[in-house]
Amino acid sequence: MHATASVDDITITGVKIADGGLSAAWGGGHAPSTFDWFWLRDHGEDEASLDPKTLQRRVETFAIPADLRAVSAALEAGGRRLRLEWSDGGPPSLYSSEQLAALAGLAPGDEALAPDLPRRPWAQGSLPDPLPSVAFPEVLAGEAGRRAWLENIHVWGFSLVTEVPGDEAATRALALRIGPIRETIFGGLWTLSAEIAEHDDTAYSTQFLAPHTDSTYSHDAPGLQMFNCLEFDGRGGESILVDGLAIAETLRNERPEDFAILTRVMVPGRYVEPGVHLRAERPAIRLDGNGDFLQLSFNNYDRAPFRLPEAEMAAFYRAYGELNRRVNDRANWLTVPLRPGTALIFDNWRTLHGRMGYAGKRVFCGCYHNREDFESRLRVSRAGPKS
Ligand SMILES: [Fe+2]
Repeated sequence: MHATASVDDITITGVKIADGGLSAAWGGGHAPSTFDWFWLRDHGEDEASLDPKTLQRRVETFAIPADLRAVSAALEAGGRRLRLEWSDGGPPSLYSSEQLAALAGLAPGDEALAPDLPRRPWAQGSLPDPLPSVAFPEVLAGEAGRRAWLENIHVWGFSLVTEVPGDEAATRALALRIGPIRETIFGGLWTLSAEIAEHDDTAYSTQFLAPHTDSTYSHDAPGLQMFNCLEFDGRGGESILVDGLAIAETLRNERPEDFAILTRVMVPGRYVEPGVHLRAERPAIRLDGNGDFLQLSFNNYDRAPFRLPEAEMAAFYRAYGELNRRVNDRANWLTVPLRPGTALIFDNWRTLHGRMGYAGKRVFCGCYHNREDFESRLRVSRAGPKS
C-alpha cells in the first residue's frame, strides 16, 4: 500500500472489456489492474448501489447473475470516473477512480488512519524535546487543538496535556473531546489512589508497577487510557511509558523466530475479584492482514495459567522472556513525573505503562476509550469541516 498517492496514481487513462473483467490503465505508470465483473457490480458507487449519505450497500449482491459482464465502459471527468452498462440491462454502475485505485493497492484507502502521518517508533532519547504535548484550553477550544492532540497519540502513542484543572469535571470534558468514555467493571471515569480499596488490583497500591498493557483479560482491550493527576504530595510515583511498536519491530528484525512465536501463541489474561471473572486470550503481538503491527498485549501480573507441548513451552518462555527484557530495559523507558495540572493519554494497544513506587499521597482520575472511537475522531478531525 502506498503511503501517499499522486493525482496520476488515481487517474484511469484507458479501459478495455476483456473476458474476465475490466482492464484499467493508470496514469502513474503502474501495471494495469483487472477488476472482475461480479466484483464491479458489487462495488458500484452510484445511488442504486450505495446510499450516498450512509455509505451502506443498496446493491443486491446475491442477486447478481454469475455470467454478468459489461457491454460498455466509459471514462468520464478526465479519467476520474468510470461508467459501466451491463449485459442484464440493470442500471448503469458508476465508480470513482480514487476508490478503484485504493482497492487496487495504488493509493491509501479509508482503512488508512493517517497515511501521510506515519507512526514514529521511539526509545529513550529519541523523543522530541519538549515531549508531545498540547494545552487543555486549546483541546477544548477548537478543532486545531484537538487534532494536534489526536495526531500526537497517533504518531507517538501518547500525549501529555498541560493546564488541566485537577477535578473530575475537567477530566471528563477532556475525555469527551475524543468520544464516549468506556464503561468497565472499574466504572466510566474512575479515581485511583492507594486509599481506595474498591478493587483488589496492584494498580490500587503504592508499589512499583512494571510496564504492561491494560485489559489483557478483555477481548477488546481499551484503545486509549487517560490519567489526570488530581493530587500529589509525596515522593516518586513517576509514570513509565514504553513503546511497544518499537520493541515489536526491533524483535521482528533481530529475533525473527521469537517474533513469530509471539505473534502465534495465544496468551490468556484474567481478572478475578468477588463477583467478577474476566478472561480473554490473544498473541502478545497481534498483526493485521498486511503483517503490520496492530497490538501489543503484555501483562505478566494478569496472565492466566496455560500450557503448551514441552518443546513449544520452552520456546514460548524464551520469546516471552526476550519481550520482557526489552520492556524492562530502562533504555526503552520514558519516565514522566505526572503532577497536578498534567494529564497523560496513551494508546493501550501500543504503549506500555507502569509506575515507579512512591511514598505519600497520589490521586489520579482517568478513563478508557474504545479504539474505534479514537480512530473515528482522528479520521473526522483530519477530514476537516466537510465531514
Ligand atoms: Fe495499568
